[in-house]
Amino acid sequence: MVREKTVFFCVECGYESPKWLGRCPGCGAWNRMEEELRGRQAAQIKTAAGSAVETLAGLGEADDALRISTGLSELDRVLGGGLVAGSLILIGGDPGIGKSTLVMQAAGGLEALGKKVLYVSGEESPRQLKMRAARLQVEMPGLLILAETDMNVIEAQVEAIRPDVVIIDSIQTVYRPELTSAAGSVSQLRESTAALLRVAKRGNVTVLLIGHVTKEGLIAGPRLLEHMVDCVLYFEGDRQHLYRILRGVKNRFGSTHEVGLFTMESFGLQEVANPSEWLLAQRPLHAAGSVVTASMEGTRPLLVEIQALVSVSSFGNFRRLSTGLDLNRVSLILAVLEKHAGLHIQDCDVFVNAVGGVRLLEPAVDLAVAASLVSSFRDRVVAGDTLFIGEVGLTGEVRGIPFLEQRLHEGSRMGFKRAVAPKYNTDSLRGRAGLEIIGVSTLEEAVREATD
Ligand code: TYD
Ligand code: MG
Repeated sequence: MVREKTVFFCVECGYESPKWLGRCPGCGAWNRMEEELRGRQAAQIKTAAGSAVETLAGLGEADDALRISTGLSELDRVLGGGLVAGSLILIGGDPGIGKSTLVMQAAGGLEALGKKVLYVSGEESPRQLKMRAARLQVEMPGLLILAETDMNVIEAQVEAIRPDVVIIDSIQTVYRPELTSAAGSVSQLRESTAALLRVAKRGNVTVLLIGHVTKEGLIAGPRLLEHMVDCVLYFEGDRQHLYRILRGVKNRFGSTHEVGLFTMESFGLQEVANPSEWLLAQRPLHAAGSVVTASMEGTRPLLVEIQALVSVSSFGNFRRLSTGLDLNRVSLILAVLEKHAGLHIQDCDVFVNAVGGVRLLEPAVDLAVAASLVSSFRDRVVAGDTLFIGEVGLTGEVRGIPFLEQRLHEGSRMGFKRAVAPKYNTDSLRGRAGLEIIGVSTLEEAVREATD
């Protein structure tokens, strides 16, 4: 017998507490604790189990062909080669970023393959969905639409219709009437997702869940569900810009950290087949502070421009700002430049930007950040046909990095002629990269290459 017990959850981060707290110790949010009845939910989930024990061999071939292409190759890539039948996929993102558009285009692609797709919309009416479909110029006459938010009805419909793919737009709008809390609350979110998980596994139906990320920077809702689903994708980008990045965060059937690139056009999302070209399209040539690096996004090298602006601070208290780069990492590079390359750069105002809205968090971009800082500081242009790749260590050494060959190939494909890269990696690479390699082992050497 499961005893009913009251617990409190933080709506923002899922922090659990036996008593109500004004401020969540997990994420620091105020007034976000919500009461739940623990025992009842646990009992409900338990009763659903009823499967037989099987051996691995008895399960037949592990068949990758069970993946279904969505017709959007960028989405397929992030999924690890398409949708896996019977999986539960969560697509999170800010409101208005294009989640509904993305899944609707995927629905079109699936339909073209003869798949039965059920689009459950709790946010838009069937007419609104139709208007979107018309705008997308995707033919999907057979798309099944259900404007419903009651989980029990949805489950019954899925049982009756037996679709291949179910889209739930959005998980925050569906609810179970048995639970007293409102749609979008922690218990509703968890219960509905658990129900959909059962639907997916039992009927071998692929379920795509859409989850809104609410409040600035803080992921509420989708975050709570990450552990329950097979695959988590986040759709990012800022609404002022055209581009959107689809990022894999968790994937039980493929690699994470793959990205898909799209632009939002008046007729829907367009895939970006050649991201490096697109990211470098507006690069200013002969401008001090601009340096190009090759960063790996999943298995794909991306050429990205890094821009720095270093100016003498006029007030004594300098400013540091970075977009798309880790500010702590930038501060570290500034300190190393000061200490080991003899630059009096630390008390300047420093602004650094990874152009194109990408986030570069791998250390392999350090050398390019350093080069752009020095270039701006000395007001000297770095040759536009040179790539900078490498990690900077605290003693001023340039450290080796993974996937150098792929990065260099992308560079030569995009017309770059030279690359400044860690000597540690380059010795074994000579002649195979398609461009001239300058191996460096210290930051000082790299700085010399950048601005002399
Ligand atoms: P939507 O898919 O509704 O976002 P979400 O489901 O994530 O809330 O898309 C919202 C925005 O995209 C909206 O501001 C309009 C824009 N948009 C276009 O620019 N082109 C299009 O073809 C479509 C369908 C939407
Ligand atoms: Mg939507």
